[in-house]
Amino acid sequence: MTSSLPSSAGPLVLGIETSCDETGVGIVSGQTLLADAVASSVEEHARFGGVVPEVASRAHLEAMVPTIERACETAGIVLGDVDAIAVTAGPGLAGALLVGVAAAKSLALGLEKPLYGVNHLAAHVAVDQLEHGPLPDPCLAMLVSGGHSSLLRVGDVTSSVEPLGSTIDDAAGEAFDKVARLLGLPFPGGPYIDKAASSGSSVAIDFPRGLTSRRDLERHRFDFSFSGLKTAVARWVQAREESGEPVPVSDVAASFQEAVCDVLTRKAVDAATAEGIEDILIGGGVAANSRLRVLAEERAAARGIRVRVPRPGLCTDNGAMVAALGAEMVARGRTPSHLDLPADSSMPVDVVLV
Ligand code: KG4
Ligand code: ZN
Repeated sequence: MTSSLPSSAGPLVLGIETSCDETGVGIVSGQTLLADAVASSVEEHARFGGVVPEVASRAHLEAMVPTIERACETAGIVLGDVDAIAVTAGPGLAGALLVGVAAAKSLALGLEKPLYGVNHLAAHVAVDQLEHGPLPDPCLAMLVSGGHSSLLRVGDVTSSVEPLGSTIDDAAGEAFDKVARLLGLPFPGGPYIDKAASSGSSVAIDFPRGLTSRRDLERHRFDFSFSGLKTAVARWVQAREESGEPVPVSDVAASFQEAVCDVLTRKAVDAATAEGIEDILIGGGVAANSRLRVLAEERAAARGIRVRVPRPGLCTDNGAMVAALGAEMVARGRTPSHLDLPADSSMPVDVVLV
């Protein structure tokens, strides 16, 4: 059965995302977003202070069919209308990925439509097309979330994603979440730190900037490290508590946030400059951070570099990003994946399509 399709300019692609704690189903027509249904299990993980893989997998199983139905309803289509299915094949939590990949294979098989198993990080980049139009080629992508902190040189997003640097320990969002916990703020901590920081002083405490010394820059010019910063905050807070003085939560939040945003933006602009790239794209949950956006704009503009940041709902994990990359795969005539494609929890960043 088919429905009356919305006027479209491009393949109708349904994308499935289950790499972490969001069950996302997006539907696009070319570069036009038709639906972006997300069911999050974040509240089930809150009391553990981090995502519990088994809990996430079970939540994906329960949410998958209702989320697909909701996306189709919003887009005004039925499954038979879809031209192709795309799914996050990795990287991410193994059990969580498996649920999405199994669902996508069933749909592709049942509907007799091509299947594209794609890389989650490239999908974070491709999603910006839905909001700001075709991606500049090349562009410098900075992906910062609870699971990743990467600088990538991106040419054609369906085939050319080159890692320039990444975190050597905690991801940026993970650092926000851990510091929030130290300060007694809820999980996930990023938005709470952002809010607390707005009434604090970013220069109150001089926290360390990881991998920025001359010696570190020789080996880790475009890499990040946030675990030393997290430890420095923990020590500072502990010393305060031991001395019986109150912890100035807003000042700690603002000074910590400044240390993270300072390093992220400095290295992103440096990488773009070194690569001769004039456009920086920021994605991942931490891209929602208000200070990161302002500082990135400011520092990039000083070098004549433009910054693109999708709206917050498209920065966090969602199905639309997977559908956007899938549509690009179709548009560029890439060969679809085999139906026996694996879920790969440690999928290399430069493998865009399996
Ligand atoms: O992309 P995302 O939804 O999921 C993955 O981790 O893949 O990102 C979630 C992360 C969390 O660590 C959360 O604390 C952080 O993004 N985050 C923020 C803000 N909003 C979300 N970090 C800093 N400032 C924010 N406003
Ligand atoms: Zn992500």
